[in-house]
Amino acid sequence: MDYIPVASADMSGCEEAYATDAIRSSWVSSTGKYLEQFEADFAELCGTRYALSCCNGTVALHLALLGLGLREGDEVIVPSMTYIATANAVRYCGARPVFVDIDPATWCVCPNEIEQAITSRTRGIIAVHLMGHPADMDAIREIAAMHGLWVVEDAAEAHFATYRQEPVGGLGTIGTFSFFGNKIFTCGEGGAVTLNDPQLYIRLKLLRGQGMDPRRRYYFPITGYNFRLTNVACALLCAQLERREQILARRREIFDRYTAALEGIAGIEFQPVASYARIAPWMYGIVIDSQVFGRDRDELIQVLSDHNIDSRPFFHPLHNLPPYRETAAAQTNSLHHSVELGQKGLMLPTFNSIRDEQIDRVTTTIRQAKVSTPRIRRAA
Ligand SMILES: Cc1ncc(COP(=O)(O)O)c(C=O)c1O
Repeated sequence: MDYIPVASADMSGCEEAYATDAIRSSWVSSTGKYLEQFEADFAELCGTRYALSCCNGTVALHLALLGLGLREGDEVIVPSMTYIATANAVRYCGARPVFVDIDPATWCVCPNEIEQAITSRTRGIIAVHLMGHPADMDAIREIAAMHGLWVVEDAAEAHFATYRQEPVGGLGTIGTFSFFGNKIFTCGEGGAVTLNDPQLYIRLKLLRGQGMDPRRRYYFPITGYNFRLTNVACALLCAQLERREQILARRREIFDRYTAALEGIAGIEFQPVASYARIAPWMYGIVIDSQVFGRDRDELIQVLSDHNIDSRPFFHPLHNLPPYRETAAAQTNSLHHSVELGQKGLMLPTFNSIRDEQIDRVTTTIRQAKVSTPRIRRAA
């Protein structure tokens, strides 16, 4: 039984040739033709005027928040159900993430919850397009406009997902992306910000490049950061963007095969898709209702692991994690949808080169793991 990983980077196109070309050209740092090409192509694909590459998706968030002037004493509204980087970036700026719940109909931040969490210290909202599903941007933008807030789209997991036919990344003030190894498009470690505002673009570029004045070498008008990505990494990304349609099509096939095989199994729920959304086929996620399925999520992870199949639980809700427990303790809002999803959600192996028979092995294992007469759990 071969091992099926939960994710695997696909470098099967021109990645090696372009990376070799970048290395041979000796442009291995943060200047070069691949970097320029990647930024131009990515901006075009996201429908924005600008894209800036940077070292990873966490840095993309940090850069965006620094550029927006976030500082100590400020608050930013963040969904509790997201990767910890979303909240950490707020904290890096000395500000406080205020956690809100998700909408069970999208698994993304709930606009009503946002509205109730706004205070005089709120500066902005981070709308996470969780698991490739766009957040409800019209509602979020309306709230933001009403209260004079900015909106950062955390699109780390949602490359080229669309909201009412428009790609994510250009729907808020700034969009941020990750190109980590388990993402749809990857260069190992990498990130990008996308935006339309020319002044903000100049500021982000300055912050990314150690604060060096572009017209005066080695003169630094501000304290900047080295947040740059390399030309070699961008060579990998250029190769991947070239075959994006093929990559996205294969991943949609994988999603369809999982759905077709799992649909009839009682106790398995699927990622909801709002009518406005075309999701990015990142990781195939399911939710286990243990009362009906007969096993809980962690038991199913163990069964899969016993069959040499890797899987991944959904994120722990951030308000329950040690770095944020104390901050969140002061909050009175309910975050129960995030808690529930964090307890029941499971991601199945999703990568371009997974074979159909491997998907079938995953789904057969799940079907066989179902307990036909579920145990009735007594209330505590
Ligand atoms: C929602 C979300 N935001 C931010 C990040 C951070 O990206 P990176 O791992 O590239 O720093 C991730 C990544 O994995 C993510 O899933």
